[in-house]
Amino acid sequence: MAKLLKATCKSPANIAFIKYWGKADPQTRIPQNNSISMCLSNLYSLCTVEFNSQLRKDEIQFIKEKTVLTEEIERIIKVLDRVRDLAGIKLKAKVVTQNNFPKATGIASSASGLSVVTLAACRALGLPIKGKELSKLARLASGTASRSIPSGFVEWQKGTNESNSYAIQIFPPEHWQIADVVAIVTYKMKKVPSTQGHSLAHTSSFQKTRITGIPAKIKAIKKVMKAKDFAAFGRILEKEALEMHAICLTSTPSILYWSPVTMAIMRQVQTWRDKGELESYFTIDAGPTVHVICQQKDEQKLAAKLRKISGTERVVINHPSLGARQIDQHLF
Ligand code: DP6
Repeated sequence: MAKLLKATCKSPANIAFIKYWGKADPQTRIPQNNSISMCLSNLYSLCTVEFNSQLRKDEIQFIKEKTVLTEEIERIIKVLDRVRDLAGIKLKAKVVTQNNFPKATGIASSASGLSVVTLAACRALGLPIKGKELSKLARLASGTASRSIPSGFVEWQKGTNESNSYAIQIFPPEHWQIADVVAIVTYKMKKVPSTQGHSLAHTSSFQKTRITGIPAKIKAIKKVMKAKDFAAFGRILEKEALEMHAICLTSTPSILYWSPVTMAIMRQVQTWRDKGELESYFTIDAGPTVHVICQQKDEQKLAAKLRKISGTERVVINHPSLGARQIDQHLF
């Protein structure tokens, strides 16, 4: 019997503490700046890929997704094409994929969704690619996907070309007991996809200033992460999120990713802190979802407070997690 060319993988979403916003090269997804993130334990994608000589074309299925855009299918087929080229084969594949959270709302669904397809396709064909090489391959599918390959706390080093732009671990998951308590405020997909947002960043007159300031910010955040200085870390994190959104707001056309509930949460987080009730800091990617970062000792209290805010749909507590990996249970 022919060997089954099939594998299933799991990959986390990640939250950026220092954001990737603006590309030096859109084709190869070389970013304009380094970014720093944490892999999330309870927000992830699963994917099974099987290459099969019986198939005439690639078959892509999303479990429990009402809307699937043609571009999403095309992006997955491009991943398959890259992996087929590496393996030197032409076989078509069946892909079944599932997210455990709403996509395109500011939870890095392209990070988990495209890193998981990349790894599953490689493993299905028995390609031993890992580490930096795997991160580079995932980067070609989606920039943030490069950061879902290593475990724990991660830095994507922008590099200067195709071969030196990849993400590496800076601290393992157990380094620091912090949590990302995610407040999902909508199940609707955002109107401006991140890829489009990146392409508008240069139209903001503040983008040059932002990019110039990033190396010092990266240095500062790594220092406080190493020292586990939560207050100093939180201050950098929150300011950084507002800075990325300042670029979005002042792009042409302007992009406003927040909803009224997003803003209500931002205000509450600051109020709880000012009153000495709870120390947490918000960060927001390209969508209305709010990621509230706290120390793990405060996570239940924070989650309860977030659930009480009118308009919060769901709250998910995340710890630093493993990156993309192979698992045994297939989806088909
Ligand atoms: C706002 O990775 O979604 O989440 O490379 O075009 O797929 P593409 O963009 P994507 O960028 C999203 C960036 C961000 C901030 C961040 O996570 O660093």
